[in-house]
Amino acid sequence: APKSVASVQINGKKFESDDYTNVTPKMISYLGRNLHLQKNNPLSIVRQRIVNYFYASFTKRGHPAFSVYDNLSPIVTTKQNFDDLLIPADHPSRAKSDCYYINRGTLLRAHMTAHQSELLRSGLDNFLMIGDVYRRDEIDSTHFPVFHQVDAVRSQRKEELFVGKPDLEIFEPSYIQSNPHAYINSIDDPMKQSCHTLEAAKLMEGQLKSHLIGLTKVLFGEDIKYRWVDAYFPFTHPSWELEIYYENKWMEVLGCGIVRNEILVHAGPSTNTIAYAFGLGLERLAMALYKIPDIRLMWSTDSGFLTQFENVGLNEAVTYKPVSSYPQCTNDMSFWLPSHLTIDTFMSNDFYDLVRDVGGDIIEQVKLKDKFVHPKSKKHSLCYSIVYRHLERTLTQAEVNQVHKEIEKAVVDAYNVVIR
Ligand code: PHE
Repeated sequence: APKSVASVQINGKKFESDDYTNVTPKMISYLGRNLHLQKNNPLSIVRQRIVNYFYASFTKRGHPAFSVYDNLSPIVTTKQNFDDLLIPADHPSRAKSDCYYINRGTLLRAHMTAHQSELLRSGLDNFLMIGDVYRRDEIDSTHFPVFHQVDAVRSQRKEELFVGKPDLEIFEPSYIQSNPHAYINSIDDPMKQSCHTLEAAKLMEGQLKSHLIGLTKVLFGEDIKYRWVDAYFPFTHPSWELEIYYENKWMEVLGCGIVRNEILVHAGPSTNTIAYAFGLGLERLAMALYKIPDIRLMWSTDSGFLTQFENVGLNEAVTYKPVSSYPQCTNDMSFWLPSHLTIDTFMSNDFYDLVRDVGGDIIEQVKLKDKFVHPKSKKHSLCYSIVYRHLERTLTQAEVNQVHKEIEKAVVDAYNVVIR
């Protein structure tokens, strides 16, 4: 595996590393950039538009009826990121190949939902959580290991949900209000959790969907084409994803659902409450709204980029104009794997992180070009194409070759491969 750090120092706090540690210095360097709070950053503009939509939707006697948390630390425990959200111990989203672990118990949050339980526990019922999240993934124009999410919870008590209909109930009579811990809440019915009445579940579903379609129309206009897709999340049931039709493709923009009752029960005293939750990605929305072609541009500190979003009215239509397009440069890298590794056991996400660590932000894309097993020696070989492009100037071939060599050296050191 790639070299990792013996102990991790973040914001002056020291974390002991262990066999789970895979966070790299490069990743740690992204902490605290807070793009979602930077003036003129498109992510910040989209964030404000979403928060404003919430203010307009939910106000009580002139006061916002919800709170906004946009400065929570991205360093969370596995309890916060997974256990509290009923994510099973063997769930694939916990894999080392998908997350940035600081050690076995601590990671860079993989979603903003990681804060849901603690905020519920502190007594909140309506709130937004906004911030940077970290996931190991492939490298291309729409994926970056850090991105930003807005997550929300909206809870309602019986009296708020069923205004003027005191006969309706949130919970089925079989649900034990006095000792909710003793109730096994099944999700076998695709329409609702077994503890909820159909009236409550359907009313919440309707509110959730119209609330989110309203937001989508505020952002993209009345004519936006959208569709709901059934989904699964361990922490909601039922669950859906919203897709919008953008540039001849369906694009997923958010996940949502009715919060599993177990989570509300564990988090605190609130009884007779039902809640919905959703999480949406800011990058996807900003890229679509402003026609930003490459996700790395969000990280640009170049004035040619940022001034295009300067003093932009929140609802003003802005189309990003490429400052200029510098040429790409593609170099291939082929290597033989050592005998203990095969094409299938080689961890491509480890490789992508290593490439990014050494190459930095001039890495535009890494593509698997070819795999091959030698008929005689049975040795496995992989070939990757690495696409280099600087967003703000032309790279020379000599410069690219130099970086490419350094990556080759790092790959040889980390995996004992033999460059072909
Ligand atoms: N956390 C989910 C994700 O990152 C999104 C989500 C949030 C889904 C809240 C349902 C409820 O994909």
